[in-house]
Amino acid sequence: MKKDKRDNLQFDSKAVYYPPDEATKSIVPPIVMSSSFQYDAEIFQRIIDGERKSVNIYGRCGNPSEYQFEEQMMIIEGADACLATASGMAAISVTLLGLLKSGDHIVCDWTTYSSTHEMLDHRLTDYNIETTFVDTADLEAVEGAIRPNTKIIYFETIANPSMKVTAIAPLVKIAHDREIIVVCDNTFASPYVMRPLEWGVDIVVESATKFIGGHNDVIGGAICMKSDLLPSDFLEQIRWNTMVKLGSPISPFNAWMLLRGIQTLSVRVERQCQTAAKMARYFEDHPRVKQVWYPGLSSHPQHDIAKEQMPKFGAMLTFEVEDGNEALKVLDNLELCCFSASLGGVRSTTQIPALMAFLDIPKAQREAMGIRDGMIRLSSGLEDADDLMADFEAALSKM
Ligand SMILES: Cc1ncc(COP(=O)(O)O)c(C=O)c1O
Repeated sequence: MKKDKRDNLQFDSKAVYYPPDEATKSIVPPIVMSSSFQYDAEIFQRIIDGERKSVNIYGRCGNPSEYQFEEQMMIIEGADACLATASGMAAISVTLLGLLKSGDHIVCDWTTYSSTHEMLDHRLTDYNIETTFVDTADLEAVEGAIRPNTKIIYFETIANPSMKVTAIAPLVKIAHDREIIVVCDNTFASPYVMRPLEWGVDIVVESATKFIGGHNDVIGGAICMKSDLLPSDFLEQIRWNTMVKLGSPISPFNAWMLLRGIQTLSVRVERQCQTAAKMARYFEDHPRVKQVWYPGLSSHPQHDIAKEQMPKFGAMLTFEVEDGNEALKVLDNLELCCFSASLGGVRSTTQIPALMAFLDIPKAQREAMGIRDGMIRLSSGLEDADDLMADFEAALSKM
C-alpha cells in the first residue's frame, strides 16, 4: 500500500497494517538481531558519501528493526520523522541535549515525570541551562516566564499525578510567535488518546514502555517530530550527534515487541479508557475518597479543554483518600490491582506518587506541585471493572 493511502486510513487500520517483509514475504516483520553488518566497497562508498540510515553501519547507530518501529510510530503519531530510543528517559534526554546548549532557558510545567524534573532542575543546571517551572495550564504564567534565551516550552499532555491537561493550541501560538520549540511528553495519553503534533507541538517524546508496549514486558522510547521551526533532518542530526554518542539506541528485540504492541494499542486503550471512566465515577461517589482527578469528569479543572483536544480521556486517574496516612495500607490490601511503579499495561497498576516517583522531591516542593501524600494513581488495565471496584471496595473498607 502506498504511503499516502496508508496515511488516510483510520487509526486502527494504520496501527495494524504492516507491509510484508520484502525478502521473506512474512507478514510479521523479522527481528534483525545483529550488532554488526558486512560492508563492501559500494556500501562503504555510500557511508563515506554521508548516507547513513539507508545503510546499516553498526547496531548503536541504527538497526532495521528499529527503523520499522520508527516508521510505525511516525504513522500513528502523524509525524514527519521518528527516532526510537532505549527508554522514555532516553527519548527525553536525547531531545533536550540535542536541542539545548549552554546559556539556553526552558519553561516547563510544574508536574512532569520525576526524572524529567530532576534532569531539568539539577543535571542541566550543571551545564548552564536554566529552567523556570510554571503551571502550563496558566498561559499568563507561561508568557511571564519566557526570556529572550528561552528555547523550549515543555509539558506533559496528561500530567502526573494531577491529570492536568494543558490547552495546546494557545500555548503553541505563544511559543511559535517567539520561535520557541514546543516539546511534550505524550506517555500518559498514548497516540490513541492524543496526537499533539496535530495541535502544532514540534516534538513529542514518549515512553513506549507504557501503553505502546502495553504488557509490562519491554522498555523503549520514541521521539516524533513535525515542525516548521526545526530542520526536516533534525532527528537524523540528533541520532548522530547525541543518541549515538550517549549510546542509547533501542534493542532490535524491544523494537519488535513495541511494533507488536502498536497493533493492539487501540483495542487495549479503548477498553482501558472505558474502565478508567467507570473507576473515576466509582471513586467520586466513595465516602472515603476526598477528590478524584480524571479528565473525563466534569469536575476536572480542564474538562472542557480535554473534550476539545483529546478523542478519549485516557486510562489514568488519581484519587485522594480521606486519611493521607492510610494510602499505603489501601494499596497493600489490594489483591487484583497490582501495587507497582509502571503504567499503561494490561494489568491495572497503582502507586502513591508522593512515596514513589516524587519521593526525592522535598515535601514542601511536592505540595507546591499539587502532589499530596494521600494521592493514589491508578492505571486502568484490562480486568473487568466490577472486579476492580470490588478489589478497591475491600481495600478502602480496611482504612
Ligand atoms: C510521563 C513519563 N515520561 C517518561 C517516563 C520514562 O519512561 P521510561 O521508564 O521508559 O524511561 C515515565 C516513566 O514512568 C513517565 O511516566
